[in-house]
Amino acid sequence: MRDLRSAAKLHARNGSVRGHRGTWWVGCLFCIGSFSCASTEAAIAPPTPSPAPPVFSSISTGNSVLLLPGPAPRSFPSTLSDIGSVSNAVCASCHAEVAAEWEGSLHKKSWQNGYFSRSYAAEPQEACRACHAPEGDPDREPTHDAQRAGVGCITCHLTPEGIVGTRSLPAAKGGHAVVANPLLSTPSACAACHTFPFLDDPAQHGPMQQDTIAEHLRSPAADKPCQTCHMPTVQTGRSSHRDHTFQVQGNAAMLKGAVAVEDVHLETNVLRMTVRPADIGHAFPTGDVFRRAEMRAWPINSGGQPIGSVSTHVIARTFGVHKGPGGTLAREVVSDTRIVDRRTIQLTLPAGTKRAAWQIVWQRLPPELANQLGVTIPNQESIVTEGLVSE
Ligand code: HEC
Ligand code: HEC
Ligand code: HEC
Ligand code: HEC
Ligand code: HEC
Repeated sequence: MRDLRSAAKLHARNGSVRGHRGTWWVGCLFCIGSFSCASTEAAIAPPTPSPAPPVFSSISTGNSVLLLPGPAPRSFPSTLSDIGSVSNAVCASCHAEVAAEWEGSLHKKSWQNGYFSRSYAAEPQEACRACHAPEGDPDREPTHDAQRAGVGCITCHLTPEGIVGTRSLPAAKGGHAVVANPLLSTPSACAACHTFPFLDDPAQHGPMQQDTIAEHLRSPAADKPCQTCHMPTVQTGRSSHRDHTFQVQGNAAMLKGAVAVEDVHLETNVLRMTVRPADIGHAFPTGDVFRRAEMRAWPINSGGQPIGSVSTHVIARTFGVHKGPGGTLAREVVSDTRIVDRRTIQLTLPAGTKRAAWQIVWQRLPPELANQLGVTIPNQESIVTEGLVSE
């Protein structure tokens, strides 16, 4: 537990540094780093500069310091005595199954996915480069290789000590030595990128922009590391390995497991639904600020056809600004309706509704924002669960 908290803190420090240069106002299309689309440069006090970042996020375990995956800048050996020159392609040449999974992952596409590109075009900041192209130098636009690598084998497995894994291995025939870092099996391996403050609030006066690690510590699944759900063991013939696709978007089975509906009933003009987190290790939904879910219900006839309009409840975080000490503006959470424990949600339907259909859907981006931008986003919406109810 202490390790995790210090990982999150350490990262917060690291993240703050990545974010400190000129990030308190952005011409806002996606508003990732800004207070709100209406905020102005003059209104917000510049953050205080922070100390230099550690090159790697690390955790001290008493007698040794373990280096963990995290944002750039990162330094690693360009050659290793066992395998010669080091690149993701070289790792892939021997670890073909893992590499094929990673090829299809959003980690691999963290720089090249179209949604990121559009948002980066609106807010081209050093901090974005540090996490979305962590194999490049965040001071400049990433090289072609760093763009293609995204979050790569090297990001997560290579430290100045060599290749790290969960156990130590001697240099085997055709292989290489592996340095043990047992924290690679824990949320510490993810903390440096999956929890961070808003880029304009490095001292963390306000809420975090992404807070998956802390949500996990508070969740009923806190004793299950992220890897249990996001890197399940894949059996191929007689061998097995940990899945490297990290897929959530477009992974219908995973999304379906996220929430359990305990009860749904229809009373006069209200549909009441009791939900709780199910096979999930943090808030639903977690991650990016724009992620949200909608619970919907609409009246239907006996043939299942809709006979009235859709009533919607949004499951998301919303942020606002308030005046802090000395008149500076500070961000605050205005509402957080995400599912973190058992909750009953009510939706109003036309009086006399006898039958209704309902759905909970996960959304990558608020539909209004997607429409406003005129963008078509792959995997924009997934049905998490749905059903019918009658009086
Ligand atoms: C010449 C082939 C070769 C290359 C190149 C190679 N590996 Fe390996 N790697 C192996 C072999 C063989 C093992 C031994 C265990 C096994 O069979 O998976 C291994 C083991 C590992 C392990 C530990 C697996 C375990 O079971 O605990 C990790 C992690 C790893 N490699 C990562 C990498 C990374 C990252 C790169 C690129 C920087 C890389 N490897 C490059 C062949 C290679
Ligand atoms: C986002 C971080 C991340 C990336 C990117 C990543 N790995 Fe891993 N990898 C891990 C973690 C964490 C584990 C340990 C999971 C566990 O056992 O708890 C692991 C385990 C492994 C293992 C151990 C064998 C096993 O059980 O699967 C090998 C080999 C490996 N990775 C190779 C690679 C190669 C090759 C690449 C690039 C194609 C890669 N990894 C990319 C995080 C990553
Ligand atoms: C170097 C930073 C970094 C590390 C370390 C890292 N991630 Fe990520 N991760 C990212 C970024 C950036 C994205 C967003 C990619 C995108 O969609 O553009 C992401 C996306 C994801 C997603 C979303 C995939 C989807 O299909 O929606 C999951 C799940 C995830 N990471 C889990 C993990 C887990 C679990 C670990 C630890 C074992 C980990 N990550 C380590 C940076 C990182
Ligand atoms: C018990 C299983 C479970 C555990 C443990 C778990 N997750 Fe998840 N995770 C899920 C499910 C289910 C979803 C899909 C619903 C959602 O987006 O919140 C998800 C979604 C995510 C996403 C959002 C992907 C997107 O595209 O928006 C990220 C990022 C993520 N998890 C990271 C983590 C990290 C980091 C940890 C550990 C601190 C972790 N998860 C622990 C089950 C789990
Ligand atoms: C500390 C690391 C970090 C920083 C800094 C960061 N991101 Fe991310 N970003 C992530 C992670 C982790 C995710 C995945 C969360 C999820 O899937 O819900 C993500 C997700 C996203 C997504 C959603 C991608 C998708 O596949 O839907 C966009 C867009 C994005 N980031 C843009 C940016 C931009 C633009 C910046 C700079 C202004 C930035 N990010 C800075 C870590 C970071």
